[in-house]
Amino acid sequence: MVTNQDRAMIGILTERLAIRSFDDGDAAETFAAITPGLTRFMNWEPPSSLEKFAEVWRCWLPAMSAGSELHLVIRAGQEFVGIAGLYGLREDQPEVLLWIKQAAQGNGYGQEAMAALLAWASQRFGPSAFRWPAAVDNAPSRRLARRLGGVLVGTFDRPKYAGVLYRVPASGVGAIRKADDGSAENSN
Ligand SMILES: CC(C)(COP(=O)(O)OP(=O)(O)OC[C@H]1O[C@@H](n2cnc3c(N)ncnc32)[C@H](O)[C@@H]1OP(=O)(O)O)[C@@H](O)C(=O)NCCC(=O)NCCS
Repeated sequence: MVTNQDRAMIGILTERLAIRSFDDGDAAETFAAITPGLTRFMNWEPPSSLEKFAEVWRCWLPAMSAGSELHLVIRAGQEFVGIAGLYGLREDQPEVLLWIKQAAQGNGYGQEAMAALLAWASQRFGPSAFRWPAAVDNAPSRRLARRLGGVLVGTFDRPKYAGVLYRVPASGVGAIRKADDGSAENSN
């Protein structure tokens, strides 16, 4: 369980990034980064206003306090770059959530943030693995899942896209694959 005090204290530092609990002071920057292009392969659409977005993030805080979800802000220095987190924290295989604002994509931030978060969460919560759903056509997300040791375990259909499900082993998160030519996936 993540208590209110823990929630305020979650702080994961990487070489370039600081990953901290979302709070209301992050709302405007987060909202500004949620563009239609960003949500193309996500299961939701951009909120139409800051007020509508508040209806969403106000649900995050009690879910974090209850220990069922994590919603963390990723910053490079002072710059907001995205959101990372976990759903189903009490389950044996929590589900990852991750997005990097479009202007900051392709810099390795997604990999750096998720490697650190999953390593931290593995120690903290002791899951056996993490579920990583991705749209079939979401190449960056799929590459990232494989980089972190993810193995393809299933498929699913959502209204917006057809998806694939990876299982990222908790114990393997620290070992980022050096090369990824897709061969791991071909064998699954
Ligand atoms: C998926 C996402 C989080 C990746 O974040 P990122 O910081 O841009 O990713 P990274 O720079 O760490 O790169 C991760 C991998 O994707 C690859 N990649 C990055 N941009 C790519 C692109 N446009 N096309 C193909 N591959 C791409 C990188 O080369 C890297 O793979 P490699 O290490 O094997 O070379 C980001 O694209 C994003 O937020 N997308 C929109 C939201 C989303 O789809 N979230 C995921 C839901 S599961």
